[in-house]
Amino acid sequence: MSGKRALGQVDPQIGAALQREAKRLQNTINLIAAENYAGPAVLEAQGSLLTNKYAEGYPPRRYYAGCQDVDAVERLAIDRAKELFRAEHANVQAHSGAQANMAAYFALLDYGDKVMGMSLSHGGHLTHGAAVNFSGRSYRFIAYGVDRETERLDYEEVERIAREHRPKLIVAGASSYPRVIDFERFHHIAEAVGAKLMVDMAHLAGLVAAGVHPSPVPWAEVITSTSHKTLCGPRGGFILCRRDLAHAIDAAVFPGLQGGPLMHVIAAKAVAFWEAMQPGFEGYQRTVLENASLLAAELQRLGLRLVSGGTDNHLILVDLTAGGITG
Ligand SMILES: Cc1ncc(COP(=O)(O)O)c(C=O)c1O
Repeated sequence: MSGKRALGQVDPQIGAALQREAKRLQNTINLIAAENYAGPAVLEAQGSLLTNKYAEGYPPRRYYAGCQDVDAVERLAIDRAKELFRAEHANVQAHSGAQANMAAYFALLDYGDKVMGMSLSHGGHLTHGAAVNFSGRSYRFIAYGVDRETERLDYEEVERIAREHRPKLIVAGASSYPRVIDFERFHHIAEAVGAKLMVDMAHLAGLVAAGVHPSPVPWAEVITSTSHKTLCGPRGGFILCRRDLAHAIDAAVFPGLQGGPLMHVIAAKAVAFWEAMQPGFEGYQRTVLENASLLAAELQRLGLRLVSGGTDNHLILVDLTAGGITG
């Protein structure tokens, strides 16, 4: 459309906003645990001409012509996701973490089914059953949370709630929980009540890929994730599952919930998975943990109270209620 002219020439207002954003990122400290800085290769793939391609379906069966190259891209993304997380099946088409969760529910549940998820106010995500979200409106969610004293997951209480309500699905994983999550324990709880286990590892994916947080893959039927948090990829979602659920998961994503996949984003996911397989990635994730732990110790030294007393992962919760900040 606009030939070879630079963005700033074609659209000076958007060009200027991007330049201001680049400066903001360079000149401020960002302590948002859900964000990251994708590298140039991820950004290049995401900003590529693959944005033009329609490719409804899955490789090699598409509803559009000319998909041979995007087939190769998606195949690479799938194979790398499987290898990186040692999963039997991967779907890389979910547009976001929320849509990955929606697809998992769509594949595993009927509307109105009972599900257990971590309460939003205790660290769970909106899509884990919040009343304002599709999840809370479509399924009967029963919330579990952290212990009032320890501010950590109380697995005995989770088991008690599971035995009382006998849900069809238990969702483990969080948006705001600074401690290791014991996926094996969740698996045994789910097994004891005949429920399936779904793990939303959106926040932990990079740590899991690097082997510095226990992997949910051996323990959960379905694992959902984002690719843009600790994993350091493009903004998007993906789903891992056991072989026997592959068809149900794929069909839930397309044609169940989405139309054409974002092939440029899938290319960028493939790059991010590849980068996460390189030897430097583990060291990077270890540094993330070391920095978080050092920051936590310094904040405590300065007199701030940390929820649960510290951190095992990339995020820190500072209790500011004493200062009147309750949001
Ligand atoms: C645990 C968890 N799941 C899902 C999501 C949703 O991801 P997205 O914002 O890509 O829809 C988030 C985002 O914060 C999250 O923390």
